[in-house]
Amino acid sequence: MPTISIGDIQLNYVERGSGPVLLLVHGFPLDHTMWKYQLDTLAESARLIAPDLRGFGHSGVTEGTVSMEQYARDLAALLDALKVDEPIILCGLSMGGYIAWQFWRKHAKRIAKLILCDTKAVADAAEAAATRLKTAERVKQTGTEALTELMMGKLFAPGTSQERPADVEAMRQVILRTPPRGAAAALRGMAQRPDSTSLLRSINVPTQVIVGQHDVISPPDEMRGIAEAIPDARFVEIAGAGHMAPLEKPDDVNAVIRAFLSR
Ligand code: MLT
Repeated sequence: MPTISIGDIQLNYVERGSGPVLLLVHGFPLDHTMWKYQLDTLAESARLIAPDLRGFGHSGVTEGTVSMEQYARDLAALLDALKVDEPIILCGLSMGGYIAWQFWRKHAKRIAKLILCDTKAVADAAEAAATRLKTAERVKQTGTEALTELMMGKLFAPGTSQERPADVEAMRQVILRTPPRGAAAALRGMAQRPDSTSLLRSINVPTQVIVGQHDVISPPDEMRGIAEAIPDARFVEIAGAGHMAPLEKPDDVNAVIRAFLSR
């Protein structure tokens, strides 16, 4: 997997296929491997770029707080380093979506289309932000096992652990391998992320909103609201999937993405 030097950090990324650039931005506390079924099959339709964000996977780690804006800056710098100057299709899941709002805010001209999977536009309520900060401390002190306890039960639909035990276990292993300081920095960044609701109406590129039917972190009704607020957005609910829809129901999600790419 190639590594590229971006300012103060080394980013690992996977690149496959040719055609329009589809940048795949993973969720928390994961890495590019959550896109394995997109990387396997969408390379016929697009040039896929899937980085490990700062502090995740095999990328370099930053202490303290990493803001959603910082991750967005890293993505823009990655595109520069890969000499991508045409507008891209940006696809983010959950925290990847929080980063997409910031990318839109700062680099709207670089986006041709948006795909938002299982994400939210609102900021954390005060209590949720405080819990994140506590979790950041716990993770820093005791490691990311705490995150498997907190998150594994919320990531997948009820049937997924029976239908795809290997994928569920792979994500648990990814969380366990995530550098604790990287995860803690992202938790602090998410706790202070701005509310992006008022940004939605300014998104003037074709947008595809995708949500798993059983997503308990960013539920379908909330995501339908996001799609309704974006002028040119389509909304799709993926039956039988949870928060990790692209991994849980890859054929269904890939069909939606393919149709959207050819739109
Ligand atoms: C994610 O999947 O990226 C996280 O669930 C986001 C969050 O904790 O808000």
